[in-house]
Amino acid sequence: MGKKQVMGATNFKRGGNPLMIFDFIYNMSSDGRSFRKDCDYIHSVADNVIDNRKKILESGQKDEKKHLDSLDILLSAKDENGIGMSNTDIRAEVDTFMFEGHDTTTSAISWILYDLAKHPEYQKLCQNEVDKALENNPGFVKWEDLGKFYVLTRCIKEGMRLHSPVPLVARQSTKEIIDGTTFPPELFSVSIYMVSITTLLSGQIR
Ligand code: HEM
Repeated sequence: MGKKQVMGATNFKRGGNPLMIFDFIYNMSSDGRSFRKDCDYIHSVADNVIDNRKKILESGQKDEKKHLDSLDILLSAKDENGIGMSNTDIRAEVDTFMFEGHDTTTSAISWILYDLAKHPEYQKLCQNEVDKALENNPGFVKWEDLGKFYVLTRCIKEGMRLHSPVPLVARQSTKEIIDGTTFPPELFSVSIYMVSITTLLSGQIR
C-alpha cells in the first residue's frame, strides 16, 4: 500500500473509536503519530512540486509542457485585489486532487478488472471492441475513439455500480425540511452503494 492508502485506512480506523474524535488523544496514540508523520511526508512532496513549478514560472524559463495544468492555474490565480494564493492554500488544493484522483480511480480500475476476469465473455466483447477501434492506430486511444467503446463503457459503469469507489457522500443540512419531511439540521449521509442496489431491486434498472 502507498502512503496515501495507509493514511486513508488509518483515518477510517479512527472513525471506529469515539475516543479518537479528540485530536489531543489521537495525536498521542501510535496511529495518530504515524498519521502525522505520513502527513508531513506527503506535504513535503506536494511542497516540493509546488516550489519547483513556482521557480520555473517566476524565472520565465522556456516551458517544454504543451498544456497549462491545474497547478499552473492555481499558481497564477489572483483574487479581486490581485493577491495570489498562499503555498498552504495551493497545497490544500493539490492534496485534494491527489487524494480524490488516485483513490477513486485505483479502486474503480481494480474492481472493473476483477469483474471482467469473473466474466470472460464480457472481457472478450470489450477486447474485440478496443481492437476494432484501434485497428488503424494501434496502441493509441484518441479522444474521438472513446465514443466507440459501447460495451466497455457499460462494463465500467456496471463495475462502479457494483463496487462504488465513493460509497458514501455526506451533507450538512441548513434547513429543517427536505421534500416536505421534517428533519433536524443534521449531518446526512447518502449511501451510493445502497441507492444502486435499491434501484436495481425496485426494478428501475433491468
Ligand atoms: C472513478 C473515479 C471517480 C469517482 C467515482 C469520483 C467520485 C466523486 C464523488 C461522488 C464526488 C462528490 C463527493 C461529494 O459531493 O460529497 C467527487 C468529488 C470530487 N472529485 Fe471525484 N471521483 C473520481 C475521480 C476523480 C479524479 C480523477 C479527480 C481529480 C484528479 C477527482 C476530484 C474530485 C474533486 C476535487 C471533488 C470535489 C468537488 C467539489 O466538491 O467541489 N475525482 N468525486
